[in-house]
Amino acid sequence: MRKTIVALLLGLVFTAVYVRANIADDDDDVDEEEVDVEAVEAKPLVNPCENKVCRRGEQCVLDVNRKPSCACLMSCEEEVDQRYWVCSTRNVTYKSDCLLDRDHCLCKRKEKGCSNRNEKRVHLDYFGGCRALTDCPKNEFEEFPDRLREWLFIVMKQLAGRDELNEYLDLLESAKEDANHTDALIWKFCDLDTSPQDRRVSRRELQHTIQSLKAMEHCLVPFLNDCDANNDRRITIREWGNCLKADHVKLENKCKAIRNARGQKRR
Ligand SMILES: *[C@@H]1O[C@H](CO)[C@@H](O)[C@H](O)[C@H]1NC(C)=O
Ligand SMILES: *[C@@H]1O[C@H](CO)[C@@H](O)[C@H](O)[C@H]1NC(C)=O
Repeated sequence: MRKTIVALLLGLVFTAVYVRANIADDDDDVDEEEVDVEAVEAKPLVNPCENKVCRRGEQCVLDVNRKPSCACLMSCEEEVDQRYWVCSTRNVTYKSDCLLDRDHCLCKRKEKGCSNRNEKRVHLDYFGGCRALTDCPKNEFEEFPDRLREWLFIVMKQLAGRDELNEYLDLLESAKEDANHTDALIWKFCDLDTSPQDRRVSRRELQHTIQSLKAMEHCLVPFLNDCDANNDRRITIREWGNCLKADHVKLENKCKAIRNARGQKRR
């Protein structure tokens, strides 16, 4: 606190010398004021909800004794822009993901307002309003790995342009040198394998990608199912490489090395 005040004073030296003299004389008063403010803040006016963590679709409420608990959201905004609408796995459109999360909460707790009493779990299928999804034709399915590779390479370049590729910049350099952009695949694999970092990409780790792209890329889900060759709901780097037609020799799991290097830089 005192340091801040000193810095403040030094700043004032250059603006008005006589002001500095006045405040310097009042230095003790300033400190007393600070102490008073802190004392007021520490008094019991803290909202008990501040430290209560609720799930999506819930909000914290206080009972008569000011005891916090989680309840379904009272209301949600409706989005005007249809890109922010969402489609549930039951093919029902919600005009915001908040509305879907709220419905999930109401139906799970069997509360009034639940859209369908028979539905215990309302889940997000994809972003955007529900639509008729078209099948993935065979020829598109066959071209999909090449398209995905090109697309990942473009995304990498865009992220680098926005300074958001971080520790993966070297992979972009090597992806540029390789006509097949193999290292763009490695980047995406590392990027997806986050929770946990276990050298396998699980369905949960793919969830957000699928929800974002499913309606636009009708071959994505069939492609990912195909990637998971042994059907254990996890994609290894080998499986990822195979379904993206990457060169075995070039395919190594570099994620760990890259993450370690980043850790050292941060230290
Ligand atoms: C889902 O809803 C959309 C829009 O109402 C409709 O066009 C489509 O056929 C539905 N899909 C299925 C599988 O029922
Ligand atoms: C790119 O991939 C194709 C087919 O998988 C392969 O024949 C070719 O040698 C690869 N090119 C390079 C430069 O790795």
